[in-house]
Amino acid sequence: MKLCVLMGSPRKDGNTAALITPFLEECASLDMDEQMIWLYDRQINPCLGCKACQDCLNGLGCIQKDGFEDVFCAMADCDVIVLATPIYSFFCTAPMKALMDRAIYAGVKNYGREKGPKLLEGKRVVTIATCGYSPEKGAGLWEEGVKRWCRHGKLEYLGILCRRDRGGEESFMNEEREQAARDFARALRMTLQLEEL
Ligand SMILES: Cc1cc2nc3c(=O)[nH]c(=O)nc-3n(C[C@H](O)[C@H](O)[C@H](O)COP(=O)(O)O)c2cc1C
Repeated sequence: MKLCVLMGSPRKDGNTAALITPFLEECASLDMDEQMIWLYDRQINPCLGCKACQDCLNGLGCIQKDGFEDVFCAMADCDVIVLATPIYSFFCTAPMKALMDRAIYAGVKNYGREKGPKLLEGKRVVTIATCGYSPEKGAGLWEEGVKRWCRHGKLEYLGILCRRDRGGEESFMNEEREQAARDFARALRMTLQLEEL
């Protein structure tokens, strides 16, 4: 079982990285392999909306030659996509948004001369988010967006782990969060096992 972790935080030692660490440790102990991609280290330009990709039915067909194709290949080559992001302006960070735009457009061939495949169909998706408001207020729009993104591309949305950053008031990680991240990994493993039956 292979996870592709798309990390949208710019901060390598930030809150999102801290929350995902016990999740990944637990995944490793459950025999799930992981590839972590730091999106701020890649060059993923925003979608230009040119629609050239729509008339390429046997591949991505994106005219921009940057870091996108490598990341898309990692998404296509895994069982579970993990969208990890701090909430910025009530959604994900900019590189994650650019990736999602291009993956859902080049990956769903609905708008060309002929309809074609959905290249990420069947991939499972979870999201791990951190935000300043309560999870419902801070990450509610993000979760809804991810659900609709999945529905559009025929991916399978499996859930969110989200915790709040109270700024300097208290340290971000604590026992409850560590355990919640481990439990999230276990629940994911269990869901995948049940689906395999
Ligand atoms: C530019 C910026 C925009 C943010 N926008 C929001 C927001 O709209 N809603 C929210 O709940 N938190 C927001 N936050 C708070 C972050 O989501 C929160 O501090 C997060 O834990 C940071 O994660 P990181 O340490 O991985 O970068 C914002 C933070 C920054 C820096």
